[in-house]
Amino acid sequence: MSAQPTVLLTGAAHGIGQATAVALARRGLPLGLIDLDGTALAALTQELEDAGATVAAVAADVTDRDALLHAVARITGAVGPIEVLVACAGIGSLTLVPALDTAMLRQTLEVNLVGVAQSIEAVLPGMIARGRGHIIGVASMAGYRGFPWMISYSASKAALIAYLEAVRPGLRRRGVTVTTVCPGFVRTRMCTAVPYQRPVPMIEPEQAARYLVRAVERRPRNCIFPWNMRIGLAILRYMPDWCFDRLMRWVGPQALHVDF
Ligand SMILES: NC(=O)c1ccc[n+]([C@@H]2O[C@H](COP(=O)([O-])OP(=O)(O)OC[C@H]3O[C@@H](n4cnc5c(N)ncnc54)[C@H](OP(=O)(O)O)[C@@H]3O)[C@@H](O)[C@H]2O)c1
Repeated sequence: MSAQPTVLLTGAAHGIGQATAVALARRGLPLGLIDLDGTALAALTQELEDAGATVAAVAADVTDRDALLHAVARITGAVGPIEVLVACAGIGSLTLVPALDTAMLRQTLEVNLVGVAQSIEAVLPGMIARGRGHIIGVASMAGYRGFPWMISYSASKAALIAYLEAVRPGLRRRGVTVTTVCPGFVRTRMCTAVPYQRPVPMIEPEQAARYLVRAVERRPRNCIFPWNMRIGLAILRYMPDWCFDRLMRWVGPQALHVDF
């Protein structure tokens, strides 16, 4: 095993993924990068290589199983076996009762759940064969409770949280650790594109990246950040259902400028 584990990062071209790629490269970890946006990925790769990092990047859609397996095979050929997967690729948009849309639900599940599961599938045989590895899935607070303005997103992240929890014991027996990440509000394109009033200020992607780097190093079961989200999530998770319903009915009109 090399001194520094090789990390495969999906959703690496923008937002939290991009900041995490930069932070991991600064620590000297070899990187494999995947994203839909080939142009932004190429620019990031150039920037990282100019700074001395070892990087292999392939543009691929995590929902396209064959393309993803091919991309991971090319990356492995270039930077070596993947020791850590950071599955960060995700989509999210406002979904409300007056505009319920199963096409959007299907697409969100495809990227946020199936895309992560396929990313795991692509790296798992090697990890199991070596008897070690680390899988990090980026979920959301919206997966722990159903948020009435991000209905499809909440459903997809709830499914992802359950998926990661369910695979954890079987993978642990095979030497593979699973970390579920729950970021607070991070100032990225996805977050700023969803127009609602947030109860706390957004943090910067570089701050989020510091928590993800720590998760790579320490392999916790859960990584919830920043501190105010840990408190908020603890309150929301253990709040009785009737109380959560009432809270959401009250918060909705304050947080949104549209009917929900
Ligand atoms: N920002 C937050 O406040 C927040 C909070 C909780 C959780 N999260 C989660 O954090 C993760 C990163 O989000 P972000 O805020 O950094 O969003 P972002 O800035 O939109 O970055 C997401 C990245 O994923 C890529 N991507 C999307 N669909 C893909 C696909 N099918 N295949 C490959 N790559 C794909 C995007 O590529 P394109 O640019 O080509 O679309 C983009 O580069 C997501 O899983 C999100 O749900 C974010």
